Amino acid sequence: MNTAALRNTEAVQALEFPIPAGVYAERVVSVKHYTDRLFSFRITRPQSFRFRSGEFVMIGLPNAEKPVFRAYSIASPNWDEEVEFFSIKVPDGPLTQHLQKIQPGDTVLMRQKSTGTLVNDALTPGKRLYMISTGTGIAPFASLMRDPETYDKFEQVILTHTCRDVAELRYGEELIETTREDPLIGELTEGRLHYFASTTREPSPHTGRITTLIENGELFKALGTEPLDPATDRVMICGSMNMLKDVKALAEKAGLKEGSNAEPADFVVERAFVG
Ligand code: A2P
Repeated sequence: MNTAALRNTEAVQALEFPIPAGVYAERVVSVKHYTDRLFSFRITRPQSFRFRSGEFVMIGLPNAEKPVFRAYSIASPNWDEEVEFFSIKVPDGPLTQHLQKIQPGDTVLMRQKSTGTLVNDALTPGKRLYMISTGTGIAPFASLMRDPETYDKFEQVILTHTCRDVAELRYGEELIETTREDPLIGELTEGRLHYFASTTREPSPHTGRITTLIENGELFKALGTEPLDPATDRVMICGSMNMLKDVKALAEKAGLKEGSNAEPADFVVERAFVG
């Protein structure tokens, strides 16, 4: 049993199985259900846990000798005292069928090492950062849009979120509201943080896939910006596999080059957690 696990004594006493090495056992602080497919939760943050905004970490539950772990983007910024996640609920998903039932006080396992490419370090400087997301792909951007470093690097920060219906947009809407009002970061975002939402299976002010709205120019018209340009624009993409492929193709068509931690460039992609 590791020291992080021992720290959380109450939770540890309730565990049926030993905690694997290199894993934190943390307590659930709060859970919020948005729809029958989406929920968010916050857990205690181990003092020694460091990450870069936009990274993901492996999450599991202490309900088996060999717990199932899945990659989750950290939705909270790196200055937050807790760690936040935004999750899909898959009825027969090996992890989420159980995870969706967690309550405050329960224990969640988190591997100690975070990683990922949706980080400021993987992009070269630019004027404008587009964070393009669908579904739970908004999570890494929830972290990045609350990190002062993002505003040091970019003049304008644009979050796009596309979901099936209006109810699924709620997490992002609340995020924008609370970020703008936040005593730490609110002032920094003034006039610089922009939000564009669209739905694909229910009418709303902007209806259609983000790929369609990029191609027909509706996104840029709504934001008052020009089409993607490598001279000024940087792009981060997070969503389902097909969405990544299609948005990536549009970024490349506009002349943007894919970057990585080792070789920063104009855009980066990461798959949102699905199972
Ligand atoms: P659609 O309703 O047309 O499938 P999901 O919840 O299934 O991950 O989907 C989230 C959003 O991503 C939905 O609005 C969905 O649109 C959209 N989407 C799915 N595939 C693509 C794609 N290849 N390109 C752009 N958007 C996509």
